[in-house]
Amino acid sequence: MKVDVLLGLQWGDEGKGKVVDVLTPRYDIVARFQGGPNAGHTLEFEGKKYVLRSIPSGIFQDGQLNLIGNGVVLDPVLFQEEAEALEASGVDIKKVLKISKKVHLILPTHRLLDAASERNKGGAKIGTTGKGIGPAYTDKVSRNGLRVGDTLLPDFREKYAAACARHLKQLAMLDAADIDIALLEERWLKAIDYLKQFDIVDGEYFINNSLEKGKKVLCEGAQGTMLDVDYGSYPYVTSSNTVTAGACTGLGVAPNKIGDVYGIFKAYCTRVGSGPFPTELHDETGRTIRDLGHEYGAVTGRERRCGWIDLVALRYAIMINGVTRLIMMKSDVLDGFDTIKACVAYKIDGKETRDFPYSIDEVTVEPVYRSLPGWKTPMNEMKNESEFPAAFNDYIKFLESELNIPISIVSIGPDREQTIIRSL
Ligand code: GDP
Ligand code: IMO
Ligand code: MG
Repeated sequence: MKVDVLLGLQWGDEGKGKVVDVLTPRYDIVARFQGGPNAGHTLEFEGKKYVLRSIPSGIFQDGQLNLIGNGVVLDPVLFQEEAEALEASGVDIKKVLKISKKVHLILPTHRLLDAASERNKGGAKIGTTGKGIGPAYTDKVSRNGLRVGDTLLPDFREKYAAACARHLKQLAMLDAADIDIALLEERWLKAIDYLKQFDIVDGEYFINNSLEKGKKVLCEGAQGTMLDVDYGSYPYVTSSNTVTAGACTGLGVAPNKIGDVYGIFKAYCTRVGSGPFPTELHDETGRTIRDLGHEYGAVTGRERRCGWIDLVALRYAIMINGVTRLIMMKSDVLDGFDTIKACVAYKIDGKETRDFPYSIDEVTVEPVYRSLPGWKTPMNEMKNESEFPAAFNDYIKFLESELNIPISIVSIGPDREQTIIRSL
């Protein structure tokens, strides 16, 4: 068997959580492969709303197993809060969740380092989620990290103390030394004891043995391609590989074991935090999209910046990820618009290009737009593709011809039920 991958093609918050939940009944295992509690994946069903941070979005469906894969960075305190809330709502989480031993831990001092680094960057700050993501991945790559498997070893406390001492020195260099971490540390160590109650596994064996037994696996991405540390709008990115290749390194799955790649995008575009965003709208239209789409961060509550769909960036993301099927989200937000715009090319120094440039930060990018007529029909209640208005079908046809991949799923509202599967 091969794994399928579902990931974001824009700057995150495309609606990954919702669609993973919808697709889970077709799979046996859902596995997160990167990111950490910077993610906020929203699911809505039966009138209730849940936001998942580190736990895969397959957790609410019956019978599937979920894995937090080795590419993830885990904050034990936030994990405990998330897991206990799920337990309280009736999910038998200890039975259905496994955690890879090679997952790296976010320490309390990683969060302090994240904050200090942002303060020191001043106007050039990334606008991180403040969850310690960058410092935790930095420790991983510089071979200083602590992993979930270490919590089971007798010298864990010493390893923790050494990492903490090193971080305190770094904080002193960043003028952030005046910190009493005793309370934070006590809470964190309690959360480590909680974490140890879970099934801590060799994630790479778990996934590969499951594939050998014919189990179907869906890999759930966090963030989005334009936030990828290698291919996103660097340096305004997160610190992991959010692209399909990240599923290989983040789960121990070989490249020839990748099956379908579901690329998910909004019918418009959003971004939260700093960094370039060529199609951003600073006007009334941008504010209308934000209001209608409730575009506020699921984790931080920050306003999301809004703009028109960017097909240059999307084509780039499709190429890097090897997308085989597209999923379009939140088209209902545009239901009332007379005209909808799509950026089909960039104009840079007077020259038009359909390619994504080295940097969209250093150059002035002028989006070249195509205007399309709006469908002016509420779509939230539709149950079948046959009900789609003609102008909406034209919009889909236009996107498919620009992107060269079929749109397999259209989402027309936040609820599980508001999902139209065109072909799968
Ligand atoms: P994720 O991080 O990719 O899982 O996405 P988020 O959960 O951060 O943001 C997506 C937001 O849009 C959430 O509030 C969802 O409930 C909501 N949402 C998802 N799909 C749709 C849709 O098709 N229409 C509307 N109106 N809202 C949606
Ligand atoms: P989901 O999985 C949207 C953004 C932050 C910031 C940059 C770096 O819900 O789509 P970090 O804390 O990772 O160091 O922040 O990345 N960012 C996200 N934006 N959705 C996310 O996750 C994000 N995770 C990080 O706003 O610009
Ligand atoms: Mg989100």
